[in-house]
Amino acid sequence: SWTAASIVDEQVAAIRAQIGSKRAICGLSGGVDSAVAAALVNKAVGDQLTCVYVDHGLMRKGETEQVEKDFVAATGVQLKVVDAAEQFLTALAGVTDPEQKRKIIGREFIRVFEQAQAELVAEAGAAGEDVAFLVQGTLYPDVVESGGGTGTANIKSHHNVGGLPDDLEFELVEPLRMLFKDEVRMVGQELGLPEEIVQRQPFPGPGLGIRIVGEVTRERLDLLREADAIAREELTAAGLDREIWQCPVVLLGEVRSVGVQGDGRTYGHPVVLRPVSSEDAMTADWSRLPYDVLARISTRITNEVRDVNRVALDITSKPPGTIEWE
Ligand code: XMP
Repeated sequence: SWTAASIVDEQVAAIRAQIGSKRAICGLSGGVDSAVAAALVNKAVGDQLTCVYVDHGLMRKGETEQVEKDFVAATGVQLKVVDAAEQFLTALAGVTDPEQKRKIIGREFIRVFEQAQAELVAEAGAAGEDVAFLVQGTLYPDVVESGGGTGTANIKSHHNVGGLPDDLEFELVEPLRMLFKDEVRMVGQELGLPEEIVQRQPFPGPGLGIRIVGEVTRERLDLLREADAIAREELTAAGLDREIWQCPVVLLGEVRSVGVQGDGRTYGHPVVLRPVSSEDAMTADWSRLPYDVLARISTRITNEVRDVNRVALDITSKPPGTIEWE
């Protein structure tokens, strides 16, 4: 019968058989899938695995630290962190179109990840070792959607590091490919991963980059991070995390409105709360959050976040509105 413990045993044995004495690389995103996949492989082959975390500077408050500190403490995994915030901000300067933002963030992400990967391959090669595997947190629904079949990842290297061949070829390790999301969470719990990672609600890959309407700047990211942290803190304190699917907080970077805060008139930005309930994100309804929770979030954000002087609530279902604003 199915238990999280039996899945762990089974996968650990399969991963050992697959990787043997070679080395593997795994990209961490801060999400549950990559974290659980990495933890399984780490349990199976320990130091033969190196994880890579690209910090694009678009994460929410505390999320990078969760990966760097809590995840590493819980697993003992070898981690290479690449601080690429400056590079992403530079690439995003002046860009307001949502799809353009996604393209740029995706492109920069691949560049930075491949550079880190090539460095790891070169280091291992110098030590006479062979990096042959790439770990991915592919779930069962992804497998079905893409028509099955396991494979190799042919990753083009944009940078020539130490005379490596232009194309690095890896065999994929996908220990979650038979599992659904709730099973992945159970396995993560079994492996002792931090609750914040195991129970994390969906969060888009481009991060806060698509939650600022208008140009993404460091100042706007800082404002949004503070407002978002307050909303999440209050929703958690009210025990609503399991009830809502996710609650994007969106900064309207191109809009200003007049307010009175402290000793005078302000001309700040609004944030929008977008709490939704959903089964699969294909359709969604706006969550009927208790007024007192909404009031606390609004009061705290406008008191604590300088330059945000208005909090609006999005009461649109999907369709017609998407969950994210971009
Ligand atoms: P929408 O806004 O399309 O979102 O209703 C549906 C779900 O997908 C997430 N989302 C993304 N996830 N990259 C991602 O990894 C993206 O570019 C992206 N855009 C939306 C969104 O958070 C919601 O869960």
